[in-house]
Amino acid sequence: MAAVGLSHVYPLGSRLNERGAFELGGCDVVELASEFGTPAYVYAEDDMRARAREYVEAFRARSERFEIVYASKAFPCTAAYRLFAEEGLSCDVASGGELYLALKGGFAPERLYLHGNNKTEAELAYAAETGIGCVIADSFDELERLERIAPGQRVMLRVTPGIKALTHSYISTGQEDSKFGFPLEQAPAAIERAQRKLDLVGLHAHIGSQIFELEPFVKLGEILSAIGDYPLLNLGGGLGIAYTAADRPPSIDDYAERLLSGAPDGVTVLCEPGRSLVGNAGVTIYTVGTVKQIPGVRTYVAVDGGMFENLRPMLYDAVYEAEIADRFGGGTPCRIAGMHCESGDIIVREADLAEPRVGDVLVIPATGAYGHAMANNYNALPRPPVIFCSNGNARAVVRRETYADLALRDVEPEA
Ligand SMILES: Cc1ncc(COP(=O)(O)O)c(C=O)c1O
Repeated sequence: MAAVGLSHVYPLGSRLNERGAFELGGCDVVELASEFGTPAYVYAEDDMRARAREYVEAFRARSERFEIVYASKAFPCTAAYRLFAEEGLSCDVASGGELYLALKGGFAPERLYLHGNNKTEAELAYAAETGIGCVIADSFDELERLERIAPGQRVMLRVTPGIKALTHSYISTGQEDSKFGFPLEQAPAAIERAQRKLDLVGLHAHIGSQIFELEPFVKLGEILSAIGDYPLLNLGGGLGIAYTAADRPPSIDDYAERLLSGAPDGVTVLCEPGRSLVGNAGVTIYTVGTVKQIPGVRTYVAVDGGMFENLRPMLYDAVYEAEIADRFGGGTPCRIAGMHCESGDIIVREADLAEPRVGDVLVIPATGAYGHAMANNYNALPRPPVIFCSNGNARAVVRRETYADLALRDVEPEA
């Protein structure tokens, strides 16, 4: 086999081993496929730890006042919460369910930030009961709810800074025409209201996700600090990652430099990365079930996954790469299809695989963020397990769903 270098799309520390098979965290994924079955989300634990430390070090090198807050919507898995809590990060949760998992994973409630444009009364009451560190208030209606349910609660106000970052419109959130937060001109009224019965500690904004240009992050700090002097400024997340070898996202270090440069001295800057902490740490492994050649048209390679385990291609036209796990290198142009009753259920539109055959294990890199998070049961397909690998040891941190799980919530008629 010709030597093929692994690109930055793959987890840190991954490699092709002596028999040419893809290995991450010291584990051969073809062996993992036999042990745990496919499809499966497989993570290099050390990659996530390394990126958490890279964030902390990049900020620590420039400031004494900062907090790295894991945006857990990217991968709301108890084991991931535990890992990032161990790494000393704080955590943002976007629902009562994420709050529950974060607490289960060991986060101290005071290190948690609750987001959401329409938090329910039950979610706010649950958050207050747990002693949550901070609620990011999103609307006047929510301020009213908080005053009633949790007077004195520490809050930050989410504002939409009027910045439109270059990314998919579904994940662009900083523009004025948005369901999130207070428009800039309403910020003074929101501040006045929040100060009446709540403990207003700062402002928050998140301009979007999968962003490669850094200038909007500089502008963001400037815009927020012009609204008023607060001890905390939460500048959201959004740093993009590489989904293909051609993608060249900025480094965490450059991002920290630019983000901090827009914020005034003496303020504590909070940064909420999600995708860039977990995205490249994870790959998904599949088994090839069908190779369909349509002469003069194309070759379809169907795998045992699809939009139930990776919704992003259908939701955002997301682009991925793929390889046969023990024959990296390509040679056969093909389209990788899922197993749903939907023609649009395509995982990779343009793939280049090395003579794909039935039974091959296929690897798709950069699926660590918003994959497991968005998994669903369309066509009653059981959701995949999550496997953590480190130093040659693999363990399931979430088991595969069973058919019986699919019926767990059924309420049967009484006999
Ligand atoms: C408020 C907020 N903070 C942080 C994030 C994390 O963004 P990313 O995963 O792009 O870093 C999101 C993502 O949607 C978000 O809505």
